Amino acid sequence: LAEYKIAVLAGDGIGPEIVEVGVAVLQAAARRFGFGLHFEEALAGGAAIDATGEPLPAPTLELCQASDAVFLGAVGGPRWDELPAHQRPEKALLGLRSGLGLFANLRPARILPQLVDASSLKREVVEGVDLLVVRELTGGIYFGNPRGIFPEKKQERRGVNTMSYSESEVERIGRVAFEAARKRRGQLCSVDKANVLEVSQLWREVMGKLAPEYPDVELTHMYVDNCAMQLIRWPRQFDTIVTGNLFGDILSDEAAMLTGSIGMLPSASLGSSGPGMYEPVHGSAPDIAGQDKANPIAQVLSAAMLLRFSLGEGAAADRIEQAVQDVLDQGYRTGDIATGGHQPIGCRAMGEQLLAALERTDGS
Ligand code: NAD
Ligand code: IPM
Ligand code: MN
Repeated sequence: LAEYKIAVLAGDGIGPEIVEVGVAVLQAAARRFGFGLHFEEALAGGAAIDATGEPLPAPTLELCQASDAVFLGAVGGPRWDELPAHQRPEKALLGLRSGLGLFANLRPARILPQLVDASSLKREVVEGVDLLVVRELTGGIYFGNPRGIFPEKKQERRGVNTMSYSESEVERIGRVAFEAARKRRGQLCSVDKANVLEVSQLWREVMGKLAPEYPDVELTHMYVDNCAMQLIRWPRQFDTIVTGNLFGDILSDEAAMLTGSIGMLPSASLGSSGPGMYEPVHGSAPDIAGQDKANPIAQVLSAAMLLRFSLGEGAAADRIEQAVQDVLDQGYRTGDIATGGHQPIGCRAMGEQLLAALERTDGS
């Protein structure tokens, strides 16, 4: 019997509510498909600051390094917003990403047919959308130096961040994206701001040099401002998008709305070896935290990605994704995806329906 160790970082806000559902779904899938999961919880984000004074205590990073995968809810919230950047809850995420070498962030945005009317865009625009944002996750302006708030003149300070990418950083995310595009519809759109930024000129050049190695993939380039518009105008033109850390952060939230709600979007963060980290694209949603209103589906779909990418349990992952479709077919909706005829249900009730659907599918 295969036995895997999963580090669970529930975090802040709605994190604990949705992670509870995600863990229950993973347990049910493990029972059903005959493998063992051993969960170990650790502190991260605001919860860790409150308990230890640090957003990412050393034992948390060590646990993650010694696990097969990391399952994270969300971190952050208004209570910690006044702290300096390096002490904020968000630093836990950034520290995990760099500490585990997770340079490739996969953010698939696929509209489920049941939700075409939940999007704020017209049905004919979002129907059939199925795209993947490959976001570089350990470089760019999030990590560049110099950074800080520096005194300049009397009574005037300057805030500084640096966007920088080395050729090898671009090449390795480029390879992940070409490989992903190859397994999808063979179209890769590299998004940059090469009309203004040198960092983007180099990015574009490196992507172009990789292209001949992937003759089955068609590489195109697009400026990020145009891409933001094209995602809303005609999202079906996109298959795989590859972009830097900041542009990928923004474009993936935008892509989320094509699927009906940001509460639907999962992600996987992968390195070249070691454990991957799986978390929803959304944040800790302080406005609905503690009210049993959160949509747990992004967390549950992240669990499916964990099974598929880190544990090689593809059949269990498929089953979880089917269970999501089943509960939507049955008409169950949390508030964020409820339209017209639906009476919204809570996070916990959605979790119970997902578990019931997991037990039921296959008729066995
Ligand atoms: P957010 O994604 O938390 O919330 C944006 C909006 O989407 C809110 O109205 C929220 O209620 C809604 N929403 C998000 N997830 C939902 C879900 N599962 N179900 C239903 N509605 C959902 O973004 P924000 O408000 O800008 O950020 C809040 C905090 O989260 C900040 O501290 C931010 O830094 C942090 N954050 C963390 C992560 C992460 O841990 N991965 C990601 C993004 C933001
Ligand atoms: C995300 C979040 C994070 C990011 C923050 C919370 C550090 O927005 O995972 O998309 O900007 O990467
Ligand atoms: Mn984000």
